[in-house]
Amino acid sequence: MEENKEKNASDGNDVERETLTTRQGRPMTDNQNIRTIGNRGSATLENYDFIEKISHFDREEVPERVVHARGSGAFGYFETYGKAGDEPVEKYTRAKVFSGAGKRTPLMVRFSTVAGAKDSPETERDPRGFAIKMYTEDGNWDLVGNNLKIFFIRDAMKFPDMIHAFKADPASNVPNPRRMFDFVSRSPEATHMITFVFSPWGIPATYRHMQGSGVNTYKWVNDKGEAVLVKYHWEPKSGIRNLTQEEANAIQAKNVGHATQDLYESIERGDYPEWELFVQIMEDGYHPELDFDPLDDTKLWPEDKFPWLPVGRMVLDRNPVDFHAEIEQAAFGTGVLVDGMDFSDDKMLQGRTFSYSDTQRYRIGANYLKLPVNAPKVPVRTNQHRGQMDIRDPKESGDNPHIDYEPSMTGGYREAGNEDPPQHRPTYNAAAMREPIDRPNNYGQAGETYREFEDWERDELINNLSGALAVCDKRIQDAMIEHFTQADEDYGRRVKEDIEKKMKEMKKENKVPGRESGKSKYGQGSIAE
Ligand code: HEM
Repeated sequence: MEENKEKNASDGNDVERETLTTRQGRPMTDNQNIRTIGNRGSATLENYDFIEKISHFDREEVPERVVHARGSGAFGYFETYGKAGDEPVEKYTRAKVFSGAGKRTPLMVRFSTVAGAKDSPETERDPRGFAIKMYTEDGNWDLVGNNLKIFFIRDAMKFPDMIHAFKADPASNVPNPRRMFDFVSRSPEATHMITFVFSPWGIPATYRHMQGSGVNTYKWVNDKGEAVLVKYHWEPKSGIRNLTQEEANAIQAKNVGHATQDLYESIERGDYPEWELFVQIMEDGYHPELDFDPLDDTKLWPEDKFPWLPVGRMVLDRNPVDFHAEIEQAAFGTGVLVDGMDFSDDKMLQGRTFSYSDTQRYRIGANYLKLPVNAPKVPVRTNQHRGQMDIRDPKESGDNPHIDYEPSMTGGYREAGNEDPPQHRPTYNAAAMREPIDRPNNYGQAGETYREFEDWERDELINNLSGALAVCDKRIQDAMIEHFTQADEDYGRRVKEDIEKKMKEMKKENKVPGRESGKSKYGQGSIAE
């Protein structure tokens, strides 16, 4: 009797259910016992059903994203207003996803943190990813943004170093503020972003209560081929809420996935999260009247000069049914644009654009665009086939399956041609070079942001920064204090005083290796004193 009970462990006998099969479609007669010589073993090598089951399990995970590994997502739609502020949107862009009022385009969104691993706490102080894939009638459009409107660096060359410094120490595998501030202290352009990230804006309360931004500058192109620069901003209808470090600690003590849970549960109960989309528009050009370069992604475009124009809204009304298939395998990229959109000369945007599809070919596979979550909802007719996991239905191989090349006089697909509507054709007359931009203005907006914060936000900022800097090398502390002083004298003075206070307290409690001793301990990195 004992034996039968075990054999039928999955057979509740209470409801009629469909029969479990192998991956080859044969009914699975026994899903509890491997095949053995006698019922005590040992096992036989032809144990096909078992070996198939376990070897598939061994391959269940794909590599996590090299950044933004921890995330969650949902599905919904974008609805147009048909206007950009008071103007018809067509004045600026011919992208069909924005044309007409009340038009809905299906979409999916993935929110994330940046530096943490796949199951890291969602309370971490970090920017939040805000990536959207719209399945438009002209093919997919991805807007791969963050919650904060600016970034740490302005040149793509620095990105891998920045991420190394922000992620866990390669020796101890523990994140370490010394490494982060070592990099940041040598990257003055990060002062503005650090001011946001170490304030309460560095820990949004939930994904539903945060803004989104494209961060980088794109172009919109109208039906005459004329282009303007555009920046995108998402405003949450449920308002913006950020956490103090103490509030975040209290949540993290009980729940490392509170933001995913909040998003999932709000959609399940029909409380659909909603954001309004605004754009800022600027004529393309150098703009000598500005004290910064408009293509510099460490800068905000002043709202009084470049007003926010509402263009539509996004509603999330469906949860994923299968997290791995629909969220983990989702692949966004800044190159995924539709007609009516283009790249600006923003160096970060251009540097990012190669990286996304490159990593996705490695992370998911060469045919990642054939997975349902990534595939456009319009017909795809391409000659880019084959490779591993080419899941094409042979019926979709076109009228003439012999012609998988173009051009051809005998069949196959034909290119669309690019004269109608006119293309946007920027012209350049400059030497190729590797040089930083003019007008870096690393501190001006950082100071403005510091002064615009509310008192409690400034207090949090000082406390969080000095806490992290108190364990850093004196050279790093001094360099960071200098950056903050350049931004605002009061800012630098307060950080300096608070670092000194914290170091005294820590020394009293014997918590930190004395900087004079030149020793470093586990978790505090190996940077030479
Ligand atoms: C994800 C590269 C800058 C937002 C990623 C991924 C890579 C990457 C390789 C992983 C993609 C995947 O595995 O599917 C870069 C490079 C950058 C850069 C090279 C700069 C040169 C930025 C900036 C933003 C940003 C400025 C903010 C606007 C995101 C987001 C994701 C992401 C939101 C997660 C997308 C998702 O949810 O799947 N980035 N990135 N990145 N990046 Fe960047």
